Amino acid sequence: MATRTQSRTSSRSSSGGSRSGSSDNRSSSGENRSSSNRKSDSGSNRSAFSWGEGAGPIIAAALGGAAIGIAANYGRKFMTQAMTGVAGDWDEVLATEHKLTLAVFDKMLATDSTQTWKRNMLLMQLTHMLDKHAHEEEMVVYPALRDAGQAVEADQLNGEHGYIKTFLYDLSQMETDDPSWLEKIRNFRQLVAEHARMEEDQVFPTFKRNLTEEQNAKITGLVNKDGFWQA
Ligand SMILES: [Fe+2]
Ligand SMILES: [Fe+2]
Repeated sequence: MATRTQSRTSSRSSSGGSRSGSSDNRSSSGENRSSSNRKSDSGSNRSAFSWGEGAGPIIAAALGGAAIGIAANYGRKFMTQAMTGVAGDWDEVLATEHKLTLAVFDKMLATDSTQTWKRNMLLMQLTHMLDKHAHEEEMVVYPALRDAGQAVEADQLNGEHGYIKTFLYDLSQMETDDPSWLEKIRNFRQLVAEHARMEEDQVFPTFKRNLTEEQNAKITGLVNKDGFWQA
């Protein structure tokens, strides 16, 4: 779990530009508020927490901006999850994510050591995709597998997620023009491809065969919900 947190943190810190940007905006508008309070309170007995006159439009604008930001974020999440969520049942959603992830590996393998910016962008994208996918499986599918008597398979798959995070960690410590970068990506892709094949060809079909229609729909709903929050 430690590596999961680590990879999540590194991906957020590198890819979450817009998120940290919006919190900067929030803190700067907070400063504006307190400075406007200070000005309007000079020489009066008003509470330090009361809003100055004329603050209404500023507050309204700030709240409006926040609402637009929240709506935009929800829209982005919706679009991201919709890309794989429309695929159908939970196992089809996850298989689509496997395919999209392997396509990112192929783009990485098509780069050369001069394309460091492109490699960094693709690595950031890969980290986010794998992080979201692992969360859906570790929080919904693997626990459901254990409850259904497939604990050995769930634990093996969960263990492999640890090695996937180890690859992400190693790559985050490596320069993207390192001569061994492509070799590392090639080995990483092989691990992810074999892991995905075991899920798609063996573990998930066995599990799905024994689900009622209702249980199957419930797991699809939970995977989509988890994916939405991780998007
Ligand atoms: Fe997995
Ligand atoms: Fe998977």
